[in-house]
This record gives sequence, structure tokens and C-alpha cells, in this order.
Amino acid sequence: MTILVTGGAGYIGSHTCVELLAAGYDIIVADNFSNSNPESLKRVAELTGKLFTISKVDLQNRQQVEKLFSSNKIDAVIHFAAYKAVGESVEFPLKYYQNNLAGTMVLLETMEKFHVKKFVFSSSATVYGATNHMPITEDEQIGSTNPYGRTKEMIEDMLQDIYQADPSWSIAILRYFNPVGAHKSGRIGEDPNGIPNNLLPYLSQVAIGRRDVLTIHGNDYQTKDGTGVRDYIHVVDLANGHIKALEKIQKTPFISAYNLGTGVGISVLEMVRAFEQASGKTIPFHIGNRRPGDVAICYADPAKARAELEWTATKSISEMCEDTWRWQLQNPEGYITEKVSIEASGA
Ligand code: UFG
Repeated sequence: MTILVTGGAGYIGSHTCVELLAAGYDIIVADNFSNSNPESLKRVAELTGKLFTISKVDLQNRQQVEKLFSSNKIDAVIHFAAYKAVGESVEFPLKYYQNNLAGTMVLLETMEKFHVKKFVFSSSATVYGATNHMPITEDEQIGSTNPYGRTKEMIEDMLQDIYQADPSWSIAILRYFNPVGAHKSGRIGEDPNGIPNNLLPYLSQVAIGRRDVLTIHGNDYQTKDGTGVRDYIHVVDLANGHIKALEKIQKTPFISAYNLGTGVGISVLEMVRAFEQASGKTIPFHIGNRRPGDVAICYADPAKARAELEWTATKSISEMCEDTWRWQLQNPEGYITEKVSIEASGA
């Protein structure tokens, strides 16, 4: 069975490619590498000992996408490719609507044309917006607070409409909570551009000395210690959620959304302590203002994914921190440095 993985060179995509290959699927990766590095895929091949097709494709380019489907027998699609920075989406909303919506529409139209109707969609807990109902179930009202989240929401609506019009589609919508961690090998991991927005990459760059101090965005929330609480999920657990979703969409046509989280809320201070433990480093931090748009608490009710996908997260907070740290230690500058040093040593 051949799976097209869009955005397969990215953080969650590359980890999912490893698990797909390990589970015996053939994969084709389509990526435009606008926010990822082909080196990640080289390492996926290295880790799994398997060969697969990599295609530099922009999903907004219909010709390129159609060529992909006409020259390969694709059975199902896992769609990761998208812009994903919340702050940037507030600043440049059209960039997000153009890339995320237009790319997805070309992909879905091409799938329809080639009668490929099995789809796993990379959505986000951000679609829930600022709810106070914890843990969050899939029945929670949708209403994102930023353009990035609204692109996910609109695509979810698009998928519902496609299924209503043609119930032979089979669609799993996966709403990720906070993906962290890295592959055990330390060979693939998260490689943010510039200053990281997210807590774990920032923490690990402080621990390794690339940044001086962590700013904790507020300690006056109504939470256990005043800092924000989130549902951190190991990226390999998340990747395995996709394998389970893929199994489910093969059984019978349906559409459903699933939370992929652990169901456990962890505060920023708890995460700092766990990272100190894992790295053996002291993390200097100071308390700053609240970050605009942040909610106090956000964690999943993962019961539906457990019941219907037979999936559950298994990896602990310490494992998430240890694996992030191993990746950071082995790749202090992310994927780029190694490329540069290979070039330098070859010169
Ligand atoms: N935080 C800090 N300092 C930092 C970075 C983060 O204190 O330098 C805090 C935040 O205030 C928050 C927590 O750490 O309390 C987690 O923040 P992240 O930026 O790591 O994650 P978010 O929960 O804000 O957002 C993530 C993804 C979004 C996604 C959302 C889904 O980045 O893409 O989860 O709920 F939409």
C-alpha cells in the first residue's frame, strides 16, 4: 500500500515517515522544502534502511500534483504540508489562507480526479480556541482565535462537505495538542527557523547555550503554579496515531475528528524542571508578561482516539525531554550545520 505524505520532511512528517516505513507501508514524500530540510528525509532512509520516493512539489502547482498522481499508484494521503506559526499568521493572514487553503484544495481536487479517497488530515487543538471546558472533547465548540487555526478549521469544514457530497471518502481528522520530543536515535527532530516560538525548542536552545534565558510568559494564570498548562505529546506517539488512523480509514468509509494528546496537563515550570533533570543543565528563566492569545490551560480528552483508533500515548514527560535533549546535543544547529560542515570538510 502506497501512502502520499505531504510535508513529509517536516517535524511531525519525518517522524511519521519512519513509523510508516517500519509498519511496512510504501511512501512517497511530497514537500516544497519551504520550511524543512531534505536532510531529514536522508536520515529517515538511514534510520529505516528503506528507500522511498521524494518529490519536490508545491501543492499549489496543479500540474506538479497531477503528475504525482498520474505517475504513481497512490492509495491514501496523509496531509501535513502547511504553514503553522500562529504569530506569523496574525501578521500575514493572506499568506496562510493562500498556502494552507489553496494547496489543500488542489490536493483534494486531484485526489477526487484520480479516485483516491482516503485522507488523514493534520489538524490542531488550536481549532478549539479559548474554551474553559477541560479536558477538551471532540464535541467542544470550534472557534479558533487566529488565522492559522482558522485555516485548519476551514479545511475541516471542507472535508465534512466533501464527505457529505460523496460518502465513499474515508477521512480522519487528527487534532494535535503540543508535539515535542524527537526520535530516540537523535537523528531527526524539530528544527525551527530563527527564534523558536514554542517552549521545548526554546528550552533546549537555552540549555545548550544558544540562548541566554527563557522568558516564561506569565505566572499569574489560575493554574497549579500560575504558569500556562498544556498537553505535551511525544512526536513518536503522535506519529503512531497516524498509523492507527490509516488502519481505520481502510476499514470503512467515514469521517471523524480525534484528539491526539495525553490527557495530562503540565505547567511551564514543571516542564522547565523536567528539562533540567533530563539535560543536567540549569535553565535560567525570568517571568515576563502573558503572551497575547495564550490560554491558561489546554489539555485533551483522548478517550475517543483510544476507543476508535485503539491509540494511546505512552511516552512520559521525562522521555520527551531526554529525546529533545539528545537531538539538540547531536545537532546543535539543527540540520543546517551538518550540511555546512560536510561541504566544508569536502572543500
Ligand atoms: N511559553 C513560555 N515561554 C516561551 C514559549 C512558550 O513561557 O518562550 C509557554 C506558553 O506561554 C505556553 C506554553 O509555554 O503556556 C506552551 O507554549 P507553546 O508556544 O510551546 O505552545 P502553544 O500551546 O502556545 O501552541 C501550540 C502550537 C500551536 C498550536 C497549539 C495547539 O505551537 O501551533 O499548540 O493548542 F496551535
